[in-house]
Amino acid sequence: MKTITVEASKKYDVIVGHGLLNEAGERIRSLLPKAQRAAVISDDNVAPLYLERATKSLEKAGFEVLSFVFPHGEPSKNGETYLQILNFMAAGQITRSDVAVALGGGVVGDITGFAAATFLRGISYVQLPTSLLAMVDSSVGGKTAIDLKEGKNLAGAFCQPEVVLCDLETLDTLSPEFFIDGSAEVIKYGVLEDQQLFSHLMERGLAFEKEYVISRCVEIKRDYVTEDEFDTGVRRKLNLGHTVGHAIEKCSAYGISHGRGVAIGLAIIARACAQKGLCSALCRDDIIAGLKALELPTETEYSSSQLLQPMLSDKKRTGSTVSLIIPKAIADCDIYPLPVEELENFVKSGL
Ligand code: GLY
Repeated sequence: MKTITVEASKKYDVIVGHGLLNEAGERIRSLLPKAQRAAVISDDNVAPLYLERATKSLEKAGFEVLSFVFPHGEPSKNGETYLQILNFMAAGQITRSDVAVALGGGVVGDITGFAAATFLRGISYVQLPTSLLAMVDSSVGGKTAIDLKEGKNLAGAFCQPEVVLCDLETLDTLSPEFFIDGSAEVIKYGVLEDQQLFSHLMERGLAFEKEYVISRCVEIKRDYVTEDEFDTGVRRKLNLGHTVGHAIEKCSAYGISHGRGVAIGLAIIARACAQKGLCSALCRDDIIAGLKALELPTETEYSSSQLLQPMLSDKKRTGSTVSLIIPKAIADCDIYPLPVEELENFVKSGL
């Protein structure tokens, strides 16, 4: 078991190990001795597998458990589900001393966090991520959000959880499709910061050593979040592959999943950087090979003109500039401000 402590506006632990769902109640109780109710939010994929286990653990620790389950998938991460969760918590008389518990993947974590950030102007919440993507990225760092018609994560808040418990056993029931999806965020950390992590992924592919890899990703994210909680500086590097990736997701009406969008986005940026002399051909080839080792896609059928509009509504745009994250070498990336009028050509050179 590994414990990584995040020191942001709130200090909290991210714990990576086996059997943590069974210990969730006890661990949350020790952090919130006065809480009476726990509002567990989950989706209809995860709830049949783990809601009972989480509920038992919470009840054993003296919580009255209320649960709300919504249909799985990105289309649920909207204003309607968000309001349903708020109304559910209001009807259940959740108070400021109670706790919301996100049991699921990135969608569940993001929307539960946003509901917790805004219900009664803010209540405590806990992340129990059950997907690889949620463990290595979305459950850590306090970004909470819902999607708007114009794009992903356009309404949200920074709100750090009380604790994040990554129970590795939950990955055993994750379908290969979702495991592969999360591995895009994993390889992103290798490209950003860690040659050894990258090499491990190249060698082992999807059979990577989970506790080592997940805790290493969380450590890298912890360092970014500690330095730049509110995403105005170095944390923006976590968006490697995301500006193009989000545009691909949006163009496909979210038929292409987040991780696959990010993987293709990373491949496009790597090819564009090599073409423009910003990184070597070797770096580009390593990135593409790393993505393929994890069975991730590297090509898109969308043209640069189709991708342009959704890229322009990316929230990382500031006025007439888009900040792209570019690899210079493995474990050495930069923030690269690009005038919006050059964006389409830049992306075109990487298609
Ligand atoms: N997912 C990127 C971040 O948390 O900053």
